[in-house]
Amino acid sequence: MAAVALLAAALLASCAAGASCAAGCRKHVAKITEYGAVGDGKKLNTAAFARAVADLSERARDGGAALVVPPGKWLTGPFNLTSHFTLYLDEGAEILASQDMKHWPLIAPLPSYGRGRDEPGPRYSNFIGGSNLTDVIITGKNGTINGQGQVWWDKFHAKELKYTRGYLLELLYSDSIIISNVTFVDSPSWNLHPTYCTNVTISGVTILAPVHSPNTDGIDPGRSFFLKIEDCYIVSGDDCVAVKSGWDEYGIKFNMPSQHIVIKRLTCISPTSAMIALGSEMSGGIRDVRAEDSVAINTESAVRVKSGMGRGGFVKDVFVRGLSLHTMKWVFWMTGNYGQHPDNTSDPSAKPEVTGINYSDVFAENVTMTGRMEGIPNDPYTGICISNVTAELAPDAKKLQWNCTDVKGVTYGVTPKPCPELGGRASRAPSRRKSSSSAHMNCQSVPINGRMPKEII
Ligand SMILES: *[C@@H]1O[C@H](CO)[C@@H](O)[C@H](O)[C@H]1NC(C)=O
Ligand SMILES: *[C@@H]1O[C@H](CO)[C@@H](O)[C@H](O)[C@H]1NC(C)=O
Ligand SMILES: *[C@@H]1O[C@H](CO)[C@@H](O)[C@H](O)[C@H]1NC(C)=O
Ligand SMILES: *[C@@H]1O[C@H](CO)[C@@H](O)[C@H](O)[C@H]1NC(C)=O
Ligand SMILES: *[C@@H]1O[C@H](CO)[C@@H](O)[C@H](O)[C@H]1NC(C)=O
Ligand SMILES: *[C@@H]1O[C@H](CO)[C@@H](O)[C@H](O)[C@H]1NC(C)=O
Ligand SMILES: *[C@@H]1O[C@H](CO)[C@@H](O)[C@H](O)[C@H]1NC(C)=O
Ligand SMILES: *[C@@H]1O[C@H](CO)[C@@H](O)[C@H](O)[C@H]1NC(C)=O
Ligand SMILES: *[C@@H]1O[C@H](CO)[C@@H](O)[C@H](O)[C@H]1NC(C)=O
Ligand SMILES: *[C@@H]1O[C@H](CO)[C@@H](O)[C@H](O)[C@H]1NC(C)=O
Repeated sequence: MAAVALLAAALLASCAAGASCAAGCRKHVAKITEYGAVGDGKKLNTAAFARAVADLSERARDGGAALVVPPGKWLTGPFNLTSHFTLYLDEGAEILASQDMKHWPLIAPLPSYGRGRDEPGPRYSNFIGGSNLTDVIITGKNGTINGQGQVWWDKFHAKELKYTRGYLLELLYSDSIIISNVTFVDSPSWNLHPTYCTNVTISGVTILAPVHSPNTDGIDPGRSFFLKIEDCYIVSGDDCVAVKSGWDEYGIKFNMPSQHIVIKRLTCISPTSAMIALGSEMSGGIRDVRAEDSVAINTESAVRVKSGMGRGGFVKDVFVRGLSLHTMKWVFWMTGNYGQHPDNTSDPSAKPEVTGINYSDVFAENVTMTGRMEGIPNDPYTGICISNVTAELAPDAKKLQWNCTDVKGVTYGVTPKPCPELGGRASRAPSRRKSSSSAHMNCQSVPINGRMPKEII
């Protein structure tokens, strides 16, 4: 058993400095080199990571432990984390995922999915995983976790994969998670996938993937609650953030919503997808999502609801405020005919309920089309409220700026003039005086603060 060193000086300094000490400090600290790892980018360190985590898990009841990854390139196959544990990536530290598929075991599909997302049956392991954990921190001085996803993307495009690609980080059934001040690059598929988790904070995280890499979603909270994402910078080949809660009959049966989610100060670049998607797998329900003060650049749409018949579940109580959008295909996009079903036993008549979706204070420039709003026939998306929006059009903008079907709602101070289904009034942005004296002229947010744990706000 490798010796657990005394507190590393660097860690001690960073802990002593800040209030984050309680979150980041651990009684026991060890370096991955103590377990025989070599940071030359060539030696496979899977056994060293497994040994380190197994050894440090024994310190869980004695103040917990931190595993420090020093500068260097640390090649490894997938590994799991443990409780009361910090994975600390120093400046210049890069954990490289093995590109050899033999190193990626198969694991069971998620119960709320019933099968892998890309292919039926089991799925490839996540690169970094963990189940039923409590108090896990992944942090450091902006070290990198690199999925080296190119081999997976190539095989995916060539239809050579029999199983679903692994995610870069997936934590299941876990509580009290902090992911902060680290960079994730080139995931084989989704990057961060906290699922069936509570009390999750993701802050100061950079996520980078080529904008045409397949399904490299940034952060996909699946059936999680009390979750905060803030100050993150994401460039990706799919949605920057996608809140999910299970797929068709599996999600309906699992029946656990994603709720109490706050997203602040997100910067997103995603030319073929959304800044924030709600769905399309939303069969356990999505409720109480706040998104504020965020920026999208060269992104297809902003906060998009994706659903369809067969999903069941709901998306409700969503409040979006303060978006600054530059070069957008659609400022507002809702979809009611999203396909992709797990199998033919899903119930095509399972209706999703989409209601109470609010947007305020949105400025967008270089816009192709302002609103593409498609609900579901005989199951309209209702309670949509949009206020104080200015969309400045691109030179080649569509002539039809709003196209609305099967949606109902109201708008205040929206330019260009919305469709009749959303009130369709001509519009000038409401003046401050006007909006404060007549509150009904804006979509009013229902406060979330009373319900979020203090640590999360
Ligand atoms: C991440 O960095 C910020 C800014 O330096 C700091 O306030 C925060 O405590 C760090 N997060 C963790 C978990 O150490
Ligand atoms: C990680 O844990 C899961 C169970 O939670 C297990 O199926 C998987 O094989 C483990 N992965 C590794 C690399 O040990
Ligand atoms: C984790 O907890 C879930 C839900 O309580 C349980 O179904 C599952 O078997 C547990 N998994 C492990 C690896 O302990
Ligand atoms: C962290 O590293 C990434 C990738 O090198 C970089 O883009 C980002 O700006 C860095 N973040 C901070 C806070 O230095
Ligand atoms: C449903 O899917 C199964 C397995 O893919 C297939 O064997 C079966 O023929 C399908 N049934 C129908 C009615 O399409
Ligand atoms: C309208 O939104 C803009 C941001 O696009 C903001 O600066 C302004 O304060 C908002 N106006 C009102 C009356 O809230
Ligand atoms: C505006 O958007 C178009 C695509 O619709 C893009 O080609 C162009 O570069 C953008 N212009 C600016 C100034 O960003
Ligand atoms: C408007 O949306 C409907 C429903 O999606 C679609 O069938 C129709 O073609 C659209 N109209 C235009 C002019 O794009
Ligand atoms: C959305 O705005 C409407 C109208 O002001 C309000 O009744 C509703 O509570 C708001 N929903 C949320 C989630 O803030
Ligand atoms: C989430 O955090 C709050 C506040 O710290 C705590 O009361 C609650 O028990 C935590 N949730 C779980 C499931 O542990």
